[in-house]
Amino acid sequence: MKALKVGIIGFGTVGTGVYKVLQSFPNIEIKKIAVKNITKKRNIENFDTTLLTQDPYEIVNNPEIDIVIEVAGGVTPTFDILTAAIKNKKHIVTANKELLAKKGSELFQLAKENKVIILYEAAVAGGIPIIMPVKTILCANKITKIAAILNGTTNYILTKMAEKELSYETALKQAQELGYAETDPTGDVEGYDAAYKIAILSTISFNKKVDINKIYREGITKITAQDIKSAKELGYTIKLIAMGQVLENGKIDVRVHPMLVAKKHLLAKVKNATNSIMLTGYPVGDLIFTGAGAGAEPTASSVVGDLLVLASELEASDSPIPQAICNHNEIADQINIGDTYNEYYIAINASNNPGAIGVIGTICGKNNINISTIMQKGTKDDNTAEIVVITERSKEADVQNALKELLKSDCIKNIDNLLRVMN
Ligand SMILES: NC(=O)c1ccc[n+]([C@@H]2O[C@H](COP(=O)([O-])OP(=O)(O)OC[C@H]3O[C@@H](n4cnc5c(N)ncnc54)[C@H](OP(=O)(O)O)[C@@H]3O)[C@@H](O)[C@H]2O)c1
Repeated sequence: MKALKVGIIGFGTVGTGVYKVLQSFPNIEIKKIAVKNITKKRNIENFDTTLLTQDPYEIVNNPEIDIVIEVAGGVTPTFDILTAAIKNKKHIVTANKELLAKKGSELFQLAKENKVIILYEAAVAGGIPIIMPVKTILCANKITKIAAILNGTTNYILTKMAEKELSYETALKQAQELGYAETDPTGDVEGYDAAYKIAILSTISFNKKVDINKIYREGITKITAQDIKSAKELGYTIKLIAMGQVLENGKIDVRVHPMLVAKKHLLAKVKNATNSIMLTGYPVGDLIFTGAGAGAEPTASSVVGDLLVLASELEASDSPIPQAICNHNEIADQINIGDTYNEYYIAINASNNPGAIGVIGTICGKNNINISTIMQKGTKDDNTAEIVVITERSKEADVQNALKELLKSDCIKNIDNLLRVMN
């Protein structure tokens, strides 16, 4: 392979992982590394600090640099920096899911006009190869369904809640102490991170631009120890699921929310910080990809993999990997959550008087909802009872109407949770 000159923007978890892996590739020369704070101590042996700059434009405007590796994250100022890089005819390797989910169309269009490539294997599920397989060897397929665990932090928290019967708050605190969750965990626990990833993955899988703003998103902060316990008794485990599917009418259903996943389902067996993606396509059938969705080394595997693919293609041709060029011309017709069909878990707090179960049955029936299981979980000191309902497949809008009606009834004190179910 001919010598290649790269610049790295960002030198945190992923950037340092990439730097270390690149030490085994003498043909790749790191010309510069941009950071936010040049005085910060870097824990790397024999590190040449003269490589560092606080000005990323020293990288994107450097005529010697062929490829820019962006592992800084965020949209501002990264979008402007990468726009300048592309206009300067630099190829890009990035791990930045937020940027691609929010501004991917603009960047890919600009890259097309400037005849450069953007590769982003690390942006979805860190070390798991999924972007390149979908865009290359699976391109003969019509992919119709994705169901995935794309966020390690939330999967870790939910695993510990289930295994150790912890509250959400305690499991989060432990995850933070062990470095699995950030000090501000919002991006992970509220489902933003998984939503960016499913936006990118469903866009390339369905060949239609999925709008991040139209993805229904719900995090795990409302899951209680009681939900986990009830789910277990019913034969389920709770997971944050990112899903996308092409419906029979061609519309697209993309969303992120916690689900009760049947214990026999392969995704129910994915524990701790591991990620897993199930794809259904024709002619291939069902596929499952499982592995480390984050971390310095697994993520560096994807970033450096992209870099080496790009390097070898650039050596062979002026117009590398045609499959890697993103086509975002067609806009996905995304449906609202109200129009989706699911089975549901409803946790209801009702007064412990005769008739509560009858009221629930009547209101569900009036709203076209068939109940498949109903379970009363004993009584509390305040003379209320926990009632758990599992429904058959129903329309979300009908379920929401039923919940409103239930709350108007004297014997229903509260709807403690509503979760969707995957069998
Ligand atoms: N962490 C993972 O496991 C993982 C997995 C997959 C994808 N990703 C993605 O990879 C990207 C980086 O994540 P990370 O975990 O490595 O983040 P991180 O540890 O917070 O590191 C961010 C790096 O970017 C630098 N930086 C921030 N703003 C900058 C700017 N304006 N100009 C130049 N440098 C700037 C920071 O400089 P200082 O060092 O001076 O603060 C730091 O070195 C994100 O897009 C993330 O979503 C991360």
